[in-house]
Amino acid sequence: MKRLAGKAALVTGASQGIGLGIALRLAEEGADIALNVLQDNAAAAETQARIAALGVRCLVLPFDVTDLPAMRAAVERAVQGLGALHILVNNAGIEKRAPFLEVAEQDYDRVMAVNLKGAFFLAQAFAAHRQAAGQGGRIINISSVHENLPFPNFAPYCLSKGGMRMMMRNLAIELAPLGITVNNIAPGAIETPINARLMNDPALKEPLLARIPQGRLGKPADVAGVAAFLASDDADYVTATTTVVDGGLLWNYAEQ
Ligand code: BGC
Repeated sequence: MKRLAGKAALVTGASQGIGLGIALRLAEEGADIALNVLQDNAAAAETQARIAALGVRCLVLPFDVTDLPAMRAAVERAVQGLGALHILVNNAGIEKRAPFLEVAEQDYDRVMAVNLKGAFFLAQAFAAHRQAAGQGGRIINISSVHENLPFPNFAPYCLSKGGMRMMMRNLAIELAPLGITVNNIAPGAIETPINARLMNDPALKEPLLARIPQGRLGKPADVAGVAAFLASDDADYVTATTTVVDGGLLWNYAEQ
């Protein structure tokens, strides 16, 4: 028996990168999938078909995680379409590069809205559903090593991820009586579209690789395996934690 059989998971930002990797992995483990994408297009239909081919149900839910009414409606649709939602993966995230002195208000607002406010209110809608269902649930947030580590030229991104760390800790305490666990996964440098600039420029990639003790970028599958564990019954007693998936990047330090 697959370990997530009979469960249903909503994964945000699942059109590409880590979100796509998690959606596929949870489906492989037997979960039905509510696949959030920003735009319903041919790529979303292709992913839906890939997931359905794994023998589970897949609903495509196009919505912007900053649009609260659309988000709440999507949770309702997922519950109606799949019978329930047991697992929420808050994955959707963006970053915008700018030195602190040049950060524009609209970029600050967008980063905070997508990365933090969206995750917050989706967790709220999800937890209300789990409370009504009278059973526990799983909230998994994809944060970043930058929930702890400063990242020059990405101040709003770091604020949003640091905020996600405290959101996770607070919700873990508040939602424990409902049987809902809340955990973060903190990826390091993963091969995804958010890192396209870096991956395509050896002058940027080589120095980064030199800082990663394992000597390689991560893959979405490296993150997805941890998400599958956190979603499973094996992680029943795990809450209020961050699991770092970074090949050793965060704690790397050496002197010549
Ligand atoms: C960021 C990447 C960065 C990586 C390691 C991630 O959270 O999205 O841009 O390369 O952290 O610093």
